[in-house]
Amino acid sequence: MAKDFSTMEDSNRSGAPHIRTLMSPSRRTVLRASAGAAAASLFAPWLAGCAGLAGAPGRLRPSFTPIPIGEGDRLVVPPGYVAAAIASWGEPVGLAGNMPPWKPDAGNTAAEQAAQMGMHHDGIHYFALDGSRRGLLVMNHEYVDDGLLHTDGLRTWSAEKVRKSQAAHGIAVIEVERGADGGWRMVRPSRYARRITATTPFAIGGPAAGHPMMRTAADPAGRIVLGTCNNCASGITPWGTYLSGEENFRNYFAAGPDPDAHQRRWGLGRTAFYRWTEHDERFDAVKHPNEPNRFGWVVEVDPMDPASTPVKRTALGRAAHEGAWVAVTRDGRAVVYSGEDARNEYIYKFVSRDRIRAAGNGLTAAQANRELLDHGTLYVARFDADGTGAWLPLVHGQGPLTAANGFADQGEVVVKARQASDALRATPMDRPEWLAIDPFSGTVYCTLTNNADRGKPGMPGPDAANPRAGNTHGHIIRWNEGGDFDGTAFRWNHLVLAGDPAQERPGAKGNIRGDLFACPDGLAFDARGILWIQTDAHATQMNRGEFANIGNNQMLACDVATGEMRRFLTGPVNCEITGMAMTPDGRTMFVNVQHPGETPSDRSDPDDPQRFSGWPDYAAGGRPRSSTVVIRRTDGGVVGT
Ligand code: FEO
Ligand code: CA
Ligand code: CA
Ligand code: CA
Repeated sequence: MAKDFSTMEDSNRSGAPHIRTLMSPSRRTVLRASAGAAAASLFAPWLAGCAGLAGAPGRLRPSFTPIPIGEGDRLVVPPGYVAAAIASWGEPVGLAGNMPPWKPDAGNTAAEQAAQMGMHHDGIHYFALDGSRRGLLVMNHEYVDDGLLHTDGLRTWSAEKVRKSQAAHGIAVIEVERGADGGWRMVRPSRYARRITATTPFAIGGPAAGHPMMRTAADPAGRIVLGTCNNCASGITPWGTYLSGEENFRNYFAAGPDPDAHQRRWGLGRTAFYRWTEHDERFDAVKHPNEPNRFGWVVEVDPMDPASTPVKRTALGRAAHEGAWVAVTRDGRAVVYSGEDARNEYIYKFVSRDRIRAAGNGLTAAQANRELLDHGTLYVARFDADGTGAWLPLVHGQGPLTAANGFADQGEVVVKARQASDALRATPMDRPEWLAIDPFSGTVYCTLTNNADRGKPGMPGPDAANPRAGNTHGHIIRWNEGGDFDGTAFRWNHLVLAGDPAQERPGAKGNIRGDLFACPDGLAFDARGILWIQTDAHATQMNRGEFANIGNNQMLACDVATGEMRRFLTGPVNCEITGMAMTPDGRTMFVNVQHPGETPSDRSDPDDPQRFSGWPDYAAGGRPRSSTVVIRRTDGGVVGT
């Protein structure tokens, strides 16, 4: 997410406890990974469905030749690899009879944009249709740059421009296939092709469905929401669906001069950054104070059924959700980890009440598990100074979560998950972004991208889990729950504090072993146990000051056994690298490049749209475009090795 939005997000004034003890990571007990075989069995049903090497004897290690820091307006991968951009913003997704061609001057209408790839590609996953040869790519379109999206940018503003902005948000489902030459192309038309936008109807599942706080003038029953927005990271379920987090939804709502305490706690501003309110009253939170409560959820999409209604899963809690990641307990229940990318907010886990059901009786697995994420227990994390931690239940009636304290029922607990977490004195974190679950050890990793406010007057001070004041460069934390995923205790430590050893200031120095990076954001294990780390330093930071030696945003491979970082990809100027998916055979990797040419203000000048980047087209009169990059080894081998 564009840093200037999310770093404004510091609305936690709860006075949650901050452990002042600064601990050296080296003094902390190293996590004991659960025995490899036992941990692998935890994931057996899960791996069987998604990992070509589920039966492999052990973890593979990155062995490609690392590349230098990224400079210039180009994308670089290691020697022996090739990379090609596909599915760029504005390409038709492949709806039969509705494939409007991309107009490089951004002249496409709102209706055309609704049939095209959205802007600002983010989380992504490959769902196989024919193994590693043909499949669906499902991806998020997190937000828009209205300076690029419209031919004259924001010089004028209209209902049509609001509709186009809304149509460029959301989620895309596209079909892709590998050609005889090994390269990949979009299959168009495709019966799976789909765009979900900021106006697509969503059902509401879980304890907030129908709740008074979810009811609006347009939806008095509180059961149908139009649209999803700011969809950041992605996850998948063992039953074949796609999960997406609604992150900085606050930027779409205007709360006017006198927001109430609830709106303040959720960071709603007087005006809305995206200016939808000027032509779409729904986003005016003065007139429609409950509409913001209908955003900030994890949403679930069944990509195999284009006619299915996507669902907002409220049992997972409301947050500026980055995304959601699923593990499976020994007895077959789903555990969903998620975090909230905002300064001093929290990390969550949900444990389903019921076991995952197999497909059968005429139902697909997605249909058989349609309500699985609607019933269960939600927890928030507390990281203690001794390297242990606790999952605190966000359950109505337990502890302080009572009607007397402003939580009338479980619906109110999940809508007000921040306030409930404050009341439980959970640990405020340095902007939790992606999580990833190690398929070999069951250890859960989470990027904490940065928090320059930590330690400032009135802000939380350093604590054991977030040990640096002025944490501009971010870190990665990890925990292990000791053999299963449904417990309430864990042990934790840090994988790494990011930074540059040449810097003097501790907040910028870090302890990286190997190649340097800053602001970790995207994070994913591949099926072979390599941890991929992607970065999102903002245009205002990169290649200057304390970031001078770190280069453009990038992706690295980490050997979690040693902590060694190896740089694999560097992006064009002012892009973010985010979202990674692989085919089951590991021979094709898909990576999203978001906002090439990002400007310091996050809005491009329509008279000079290629001021910072022309990637990937570099065409006269064109515009930089977020795209999916397809990466392969020239010898056809497994990517990363
Ligand atoms: Fe959308 Fe937190 O990055
Ligand atoms: Ca980010
Ligand atoms: Ca970004
Ligand atoms: Ca992100």
